[in-house]
Amino acid sequence: MELNFFFDQAKQELLRANQDRRHPFRTLVLATLSDFPQVRTVVKRKSLPDHSVLVYTDSRTTKIANLRENANCSLIFYHPKKKLQVTFYCTAKIIESGDLFEKHQAIALVHPNDYATTAAPKSTLDTPEYSYTADTHFTLLQFLPQQIEILQLGRPQHLRAVFSRKNNWEGSWVVP
Ligand SMILES: Cc1cc2nc3c(=O)[nH]c(=O)nc-3n(C[C@H](O)[C@H](O)[C@H](O)COP(=O)(O)O)c2cc1C
Repeated sequence: MELNFFFDQAKQELLRANQDRRHPFRTLVLATLSDFPQVRTVVKRKSLPDHSVLVYTDSRTTKIANLRENANCSLIFYHPKKKLQVTFYCTAKIIESGDLFEKHQAIALVHPNDYATTAAPKSTLDTPEYSYTADTHFTLLQFLPQQIEILQLGRPQHLRAVFSRKNNWEGSWVVP
């Protein structure tokens, strides 16, 4: 197996999920830093050609507070059928204006309530009901990977490699 081919295979799967809503790379787990690592599932809205990943969220969430404190974060994608795991070590960019923001806000606001609870996400409630306002708290997140790690389980051997942005995405095989 060629190292470049291994990298391209993972990249193709990430790009495939741009079109296919049921692709397993359509969701990912995002880990941010706080006293404890904070993890949650989010939807990957788009993978861009520079390998960055776009996610939509509410500006009042814990993930945004964490990323404002420390932009370092990790993403993990898992394809159960292909037994393929892709880990991104990233810096996050919080985008609240500009062309990219406007374009994605227009798409996101097809479901405006996702970003418009009256009280901020994680506010305590006396009952499970809550209300919405006309204000939107939509925010665009762009995750810029500094390092990408790929693990492919298989027989006779598993394959694992790491690739770095600073080495122009050249990588090396590592022991799984
Ligand atoms: C399948 C699934 C997809 C989700 N997609 C998103 C998403 O795209 N953006 C988002 O902010 N939260 C999404 N959530 C909710 C998050 O997992 C999380 O509960 C919420 O964003 C609050 O996270 P935080 O308080 O850690 O910031 C999703 C949850 C699930 C189960």
